[in-house]
Amino acid sequence: MPETSKPTLIVNARLVNEGREFEGDLRIENGRIAQIGTGLSAREGDHVVDAAGRRLLPGMIDDQVHFREPGMEYKADMATESAAAVAGGLTSFMDMPNTNPPTLDSAALEDKYKRATGRARANFGFYMGASNDNIEAIRALDPLRAPGIKVFMGASTGNMLVDNPETLDAIFRDAPTPIITHCEDTPMIDAELAKYKAKYGDDIPAEFHADIRSRQACKKSTLLALELARRNGSRLHVLHISTADELELFERGPLIRADGSRKQITAETCIHFLRFDRADYATLGHLIKCNPSIKEASDREALIAAIGDDVIDVLATDHAPHTLEEKMRPYTGAPSGLPLVQYALLAALELVHEGRLTNAQVVQKVSHAPAQLFDVAQRGYLREGYMADLVLIDDAPLTVRREDVLSKCGWSPFEGRTFHSRIGATWVNGVLAWDGSQLVGGPNGQRLEFARV
Ligand code: DOR
Repeated sequence: MPETSKPTLIVNARLVNEGREFEGDLRIENGRIAQIGTGLSAREGDHVVDAAGRRLLPGMIDDQVHFREPGMEYKADMATESAAAVAGGLTSFMDMPNTNPPTLDSAALEDKYKRATGRARANFGFYMGASNDNIEAIRALDPLRAPGIKVFMGASTGNMLVDNPETLDAIFRDAPTPIITHCEDTPMIDAELAKYKAKYGDDIPAEFHADIRSRQACKKSTLLALELARRNGSRLHVLHISTADELELFERGPLIRADGSRKQITAETCIHFLRFDRADYATLGHLIKCNPSIKEASDREALIAAIGDDVIDVLATDHAPHTLEEKMRPYTGAPSGLPLVQYALLAALELVHEGRLTNAQVVQKVSHAPAQLFDVAQRGYLREGYMADLVLIDDAPLTVRREDVLSKCGWSPFEGRTFHSRIGATWVNGVLAWDGSQLVGGPNGQRLEFARV
């Protein structure tokens, strides 16, 4: 059963919302933000939280996670990963279709919603996947039941490559929801991989992942996605941009333009591309092997700048856990992906500490933008009447330790790193889910609703 929310008054907070930071109080009632103001007084029965000037943000909405269920529960499951999520200030997630079985029809989609209900600590949405032969299921998809349709235009974990040109065209023409793409050109990657295998066998040094999964492969595939979207008038969101080269392909400016229209084509990057670069393969090896690959320091810098410049619209995680045993295998056997939900928001806030971004920019990219882009109903903002998905940030340092990792895989690429802040509290649907040191209560995530007509 969902937890019931206790009337809660958060006082003396520094609210970050819709481009502003301001001192204020926020009242939670019946799972929603009932009131935002200054000098709000406690009513009888209110649980009062003194934020003492700490930042209060809308919870992060992560538009790209792999929680592995069904089929790969030995790596992760919805209960464990959503626990890690709320510990990291992430209150909603949208999960990818490369599970086993893959999410290729409405029955598989609804099975995932059923699995999450009563087990997920954060709110949940599930993407429908595309294959070379499920166009009818895509056409039949009710747009209120999924945030979008995921198209692997490059092969990655799971075998979901869509490379048939007619099928791609049909998907881009007929998709009833936004299309989200993984863009990497598989033939180019295969050709590079063959060269490195000829030289090193299976034990290719990890750093060359950046060259095998090359910048050229990213750009070629992204260009194809853009061409398909422009020709078909589709709504396209290109996931996990990893190179400076691709940035010039996207529109610069706010997701919601001055005239009120929304960008038709948008770009996402992920936290690991902002915090790691080629030099890190020497110490972290396959722990940071992911697709697309982490590339150069110059890419990292350009991507951070592109967030500030509104070329990148969304900052997500691509949380993709694998076991340590799997990650320790030689290059060709080590799967791609890393667990990120627990520390992504803290890692993003480091960019504020470094003076690269403002709090408001981070909130725009991790909370408002995913809500805007996927038409998420009643979430993603500090607004009266909206669901109370909130995160309080403590300005006390946190060093990431393996024993604190809640993801089932039990490791983090950030181990040993110290962040300047930590998650002081997370509320999901008005109920405390994380109190700063531990999980509180039971699973309280709800199915995301999409306000589409
Ligand atoms: O690194 C990645 N891991 N990239 C993907 O596209 C898939 C993901 C996974 O599922 O492991």
